[in-house]
Amino acid sequence: MDFGVTPFDGVPLPPRVTICEVGPRDGPQNESAVLPVAVKAEFVERLVDAGHTVVETTSFVHPKWVPQLADADDLIRAITIAPGIRYPVLVPNMAGLERALDLGVRDIAVFGSVTETFSRRNLNRSVDESLEMFAPVVARAREAGIRVRGYLSMCFGDPWKREVPVRRVLDVATRMRALGCTELSIGGTIGVATPGRVEAVLATLITAAIPVDSIAVHFHDTYGEALANTLTALRKGIVIIDASAGGLGGCPYAGSATGNLATEDLLWQLYGLGIETGVDLQKMVDTSVWLAGHLGRPSPSRTVTALAG
Ligand code: HMG
Ligand code: MG
Repeated sequence: MDFGVTPFDGVPLPPRVTICEVGPRDGPQNESAVLPVAVKAEFVERLVDAGHTVVETTSFVHPKWVPQLADADDLIRAITIAPGIRYPVLVPNMAGLERALDLGVRDIAVFGSVTETFSRRNLNRSVDESLEMFAPVVARAREAGIRVRGYLSMCFGDPWKREVPVRRVLDVATRMRALGCTELSIGGTIGVATPGRVEAVLATLITAAIPVDSIAVHFHDTYGEALANTLTALRKGIVIIDASAGGLGGCPYAGSATGNLATEDLLWQLYGLGIETGVDLQKMVDTSVWLAGHLGRPSPSRTVTALAG
């Protein structure tokens, strides 16, 4: 499809962005149906075939905490690894890192929270304790030349505390970077973010000299604000955007979290703005329709609905 380049309000937008496709990881963790490993592996391979270069594949967490991803080791073994493609996995602690290293994983993400309640629910630890847990993980991974993303959840509000001060986001972001995280993903875990908040949080991080090309945004779409938030992030120069095929996703430890920004909805906006991604929209739609058949429910993405054959 060629929509040409649409100038946007005089504000320069990045000519190209990298989509971090989180569907295989953020998706199944919130589904009651557990997909067979072969289906998960085909999902990952289809995403790569559609043009994704970063596919967050699974989590090496405790299987009792996220049973839907208990097959993480088998999945990594089952995937045909394509050259030049990154397959990050979530790793909370040294036990998870050891599992990942044994399988030759080269990209990991630790996942912290800026609020205490979510940190305790998700990691059984305070924010300080979680950062202590991450420290040796990040250090060991960096020694091994592995890229480490640091997630910060609840950056725009949480279901228990609602308001989250921007300085709190900056504090945890600074500490994650001091541990050695090479990239930060700013999480709108429960979808309450709106453009003004996104502008304020990103401006604070960028003003604090966190390199803009090391900041990703991760919007769940609970209130339908994810695309507006993404456009705000693009206007701040953000070039890494998390999205999930068909709008899968959520967090079992954040009750009100629904799916992520759908990759197809994101692609429709980026095509319209003339921003390159390298990802084929129709292949994504076909993949989400195929996966919906396995999940037994249609994709919530409007773009998938509009373009499904
Ligand atoms: P814990 O109970 O405090 O664990 O859970 P522990 O350190 O006390 O260890 C207890 C037992 O678990 C031990 O075994 C460990 O070996 C084992 P035992 O000695 O009793 O036989 N264990 C493990 N086994 C396998 N793999 C591991 C592992 N770690 C410990 N990695 C823990 C702490 C961090 C493990 C737990 O809280 C956990 O697994 N949490 C994961 C929660 C999760 O995955 N949430 C969803 C992802 S976050 C998200 O979705 C948000 C995001 O999308 C961004 C956004 O939207 O904002 C990223
Ligand atoms: Mg998420």
